[in-house]
Amino acid sequence: TTPLRLGIAGLGTVGTGVVKIVQRRAGLLTARTGRPVEISAVSARTRDKDRGVRLQHYAWEDDPVALAQRDDVDVLVELMGGSDGPAKAATEAAIAAGKDVVTANKAMLALHGQDLAEAAEAAGAALRFEAAVAGGIPVVKALTEGLAGNEVERVMGVMNGTCNYILTRMEHGGLAYEDVFEEANALGYLEADPTLDVGGIDAAHKLALLAAIAFGTRVDFHAVELEGIERIEIADIEQARDMGFRIKLLGVAQMTGRGLEQRMAPCLVPADSALGQLEGGTNMVVLEGDAAGQIVLRGAGAGEGPTASAVMSDVLDIARGIRVSTFGQPASSLAAPTPAKTAAP
Ligand code: NAP
Ligand code: HSE
Repeated sequence: TTPLRLGIAGLGTVGTGVVKIVQRRAGLLTARTGRPVEISAVSARTRDKDRGVRLQHYAWEDDPVALAQRDDVDVLVELMGGSDGPAKAATEAAIAAGKDVVTANKAMLALHGQDLAEAAEAAGAALRFEAAVAGGIPVVKALTEGLAGNEVERVMGVMNGTCNYILTRMEHGGLAYEDVFEEANALGYLEADPTLDVGGIDAAHKLALLAAIAFGTRVDFHAVELEGIERIEIADIEQARDMGFRIKLLGVAQMTGRGLEQRMAPCLVPADSALGQLEGGTNMVVLEGDAAGQIVLRGAGAGEGPTASAVMSDVLDIARGIRVSTFGQPASSLAAPTPAKTAAP
């Protein structure tokens, strides 16, 4: 049987997690897909770095574009991050060569997902991003596959592990923002630019991607009404608690009579509700379909294992020959959304 050969660009938190699964679960991956899943080549910024995984059997490329173009790479696994630069260049190079791409890069997709998905479709390549939204929670597949027969009415949830970690640790420990921030960093939750996390931008990227799938509209990140958690103080948290609430960075996307409403902002949620009980890096996504009703997905939204798990689910779909459009329907058929400006909740 023909192996599926991966080229992994980016060997940080998520990339090393993917290498570990491929190395440790080889038998399971072959059994589940009917073909071996192998790594041909890898790329990162620094070659001489102990990453806690064996890399000596893989070819090394300094340039991720060269990695994407290698003859022994069938799938580019893009885990570098950054909306532009090498991540986008390598993704475009892979697609131009007709190769499938799996990425965890919500920033790139929120800004360029439409063009990249159209290019992938024209080239007959897959572009998949389960890991980009809510870490280990298979929410992209829940929408593109599980709820494919539904008209989706609403998507909402807590989609940034860093913010939830910071808010809950500030609440429980009365800890200073700076100390909690360092803890989140040690857990591998943070974006390379952490202002993306605390500014709510990362969560807004994710919401915009889910909204595109849910409502069949082109990704419209710039229409998300956005507020981060930077201005939340211990006093706000205590006041909320005294009233029986907790503060969560909550995203909501829904189609209204006036158009697509997308909002990401700190919100008061009842402390005894499912959302109010979320701790640490946990995420929760609530999907509402006209036929299925409400579905609640809860799990680790960030970190090495959970995110690598989601990357592998896309890799395994490709190994199995399962072809699903990036946003659940051909990118060229996505409608231009009419953004609805809303009042604050
Ligand atoms: P990370 O730990 O910072 O790792 C980034 C990797 O990319 C590093 O290995 C780095 O090389 C490499 N890299 C950066 N620029 C490069 C360049 N110009 N050429 C070649 N390699 C380059 O990041 P991460 O946390 O794994 O995140 C990777 C992606 O997954 C991002 O898109 C992020 O948004 C997404 N994501 C992360 C999580 C999470 O929990 N961490 C969850 C979901 C999605 P060096 O190691 O040599 O510096
Ligand atoms: N920085 C992101 C978070 C990583 O904290 O949720 C997962 O997308």
